[in-house]
Amino acid sequence: MHVLMAAAEDDALPGGKVGGIGDVVRDLPPALARLGCAVSVVTPAYGRLAELAAARHVGDLEVSFRGSLQTVSLHEVAAPRPTQGVRHYVLDHPDLAPCGRGVIYCDDPPSRPFATDASKFALFCAAVAELTERDLLPTPDVLHLHDWHAALTLALRRYRVRPGGWRKLHCVFTIHNLALQGIRPFDGDESALDAWFPALPYQHAALADPRWPQCVNPMAVGIRLADAVHVVSPTYAREILTPGDPFGRGLHGGEGLEADLAAADAEGRLVGILNGCEYPQDAPPRPSWPALRDAMRAQNLVWSAGRATVASAHFVAQARLAGLGARRPSPLVTSIGRITAQKVRLLLERAGDGRPAIEAVLDTIGEDGLLVILGTGDPVLEQALVEVSARRGNLIFLRGYSDAVARDLYAAGDLFLMPSSFEPCGISQMLAMRAGQPCLVHRVGGLVDTVRPGVDGFGFEGSSVTAQVDGMVAALAGALALRRDDRPGWQRVRKAAAAARFSWDASAAACIERLYRPATTGAGGDDAA
Ligand code: GLC
Repeated sequence: MHVLMAAAEDDALPGGKVGGIGDVVRDLPPALARLGCAVSVVTPAYGRLAELAAARHVGDLEVSFRGSLQTVSLHEVAAPRPTQGVRHYVLDHPDLAPCGRGVIYCDDPPSRPFATDASKFALFCAAVAELTERDLLPTPDVLHLHDWHAALTLALRRYRVRPGGWRKLHCVFTIHNLALQGIRPFDGDESALDAWFPALPYQHAALADPRWPQCVNPMAVGIRLADAVHVVSPTYAREILTPGDPFGRGLHGGEGLEADLAAADAEGRLVGILNGCEYPQDAPPRPSWPALRDAMRAQNLVWSAGRATVASAHFVAQARLAGLGARRPSPLVTSIGRITAQKVRLLLERAGDGRPAIEAVLDTIGEDGLLVILGTGDPVLEQALVEVSARRGNLIFLRGYSDAVARDLYAAGDLFLMPSSFEPCGISQMLAMRAGQPCLVHRVGGLVDTVRPGVDGFGFEGSSVTAQVDGMVAALAGALALRRDDRPGWQRVRKAAAAARFSWDASAAACIERLYRPATTGAGGDDAA
C-alpha cells in the first residue's frame, strides 16, 4: 500500500518542525513502513528545504493558481536518518516561502487572520492535488492530509473538472488541532478562495464555515470531504462532538465544527487513534543537578546573545539561574511546551481564593522547590510568565526551545506539569513518562488516554476554570505530599510512568486497519468529478 502524506511540517527534515504535527509526520511513516506500507511525505519547501544536501529534482508540476499556470518543482530530500520505505519530498515555488527562507508559519496579525499562510497553503494544496494525478511518484492508494494546511486538496479533487475524471483515491484527513481552522473569505480579498481558484465550480455550502457563511473553512472541508477523519486520541474524538464552552467552563469541544464532526461520526468516518512515542534503547542519563543548572545557564546566554539587546525574558532567567546553588531544588517541577493559551492559560487564571494560579502553584512548590518552564509562543503570555519570575525566586522561565535542555529536564524533573485547557493528544507527557517523570495533567483529550491518576501520574478536572485551577493546586499538593511522605508509593508511580508504552506500531496498525484499509476493500470514496 502506497500512502502519500501531505502536511505543513516534517521533522524528519532539518528545520521541518514547529509543533506536534512535525513529530507525528516524522514518526508515523516509519511505523507504517515497518508494517509494509510505502510512504511518501510531501511538504512545502519554504524556500529552503529543496536546497538541503542530497536534494534531487524529481520533476515539475504545472499548477493552476490565481488564474494562471504556476510551475511548482518537486524535489526528493534525503532525511539525515533515512528509513526504509519512507521517502521525503518538498514542493518548491516562491509563493511557498512568502515570509522568508525556512519560515513555516507566518503568524498573520489578528487584523488579517491566516491571510499569508492560507494563500501559501492553498498553492500547496493545488500542487498536491496535481501530484495525485501525475506519475512523478508511484501511484498512491491513500492520500493522507494533515490539518487545515492540506485540507483544500480535497475541495480541488472534488470540484476541479478534469478530462477523464480524477483518479480514484482514498482520502484520509487528520485533525491535530481544531483550534486552528485557516478560515478565509470566499471572495473580495487577495487571500480568498475565489482569488486562488477562480472558476472553481464548487458548492458553497460544502466549503462554508457554519458560523460565517461568507467564509471558507479548510478544517471543515477536511472533515466533510474526507473518506475518513482521524483525530489523535479517542477522548478528544468524543469531546469534539459537543459545542464546548470556552468562556464559562473552559471546555473547548468542537470549536464550532461539532455538527460536521457529529455527522462524520454518524457516518462512521470519525476515528480516534492515539499518537505514539518512540522508545529508543539507550535512554538519556539523568543529568546531575550542577550539569542541568549549567546547561540551562549556557543555553539562556546563547539565546540572550541572539540579539543586540537582551530581552527581559532572558535577563530575568539569567538572574534566576545565577541564584541557583549547588543543592538541587526539591521538588523540581518542570513544564515544556508552546507558550500558547491552550497550554498555559490555566496557569494565568485565578484560584478560588483570588490568587493567580501560578502564584498558588509556586506557593505549593515552596521556597526549596523550583518550577522550570521551557518554551516559546505568544508574546503576551510569555511576558506574563517573565513578570511572575521577576517576583518569585522559585520560577525560572526559559523562553526558547532547545532539544538538549528539554531532554535534561525530562530526565531530571520530579513532576511534569501539563495543565492544557484542551489537548488533542499531547506529546510532552509521553516524553516525560518515558524518562520516568510522572505527570500532573488536566484530564482532557489525550491526557486522559495517557495518564492514569494514582497509578502512573496525577490528574485534575473541574466544571469551571476556577474549579480547574483549584483542582490543579490540590492535585499538586497531593502529589508532592506523596513524594514527601510515602517514598515507596512515589517510586511505584515513577516506575509505572516509565513502564507505560504508547507505541507507534500500535498507532500505525490502527491507522492501516481503520483509516487506510477501506481503500483496499472498496468502501468510502470521494472524488466523483
Ligand atoms: C497538536 C496538538 C497536540 C498533538 C499534536 C500531534 O500539536 O495540540 O495535542 O499531540 O498536534 O498530533
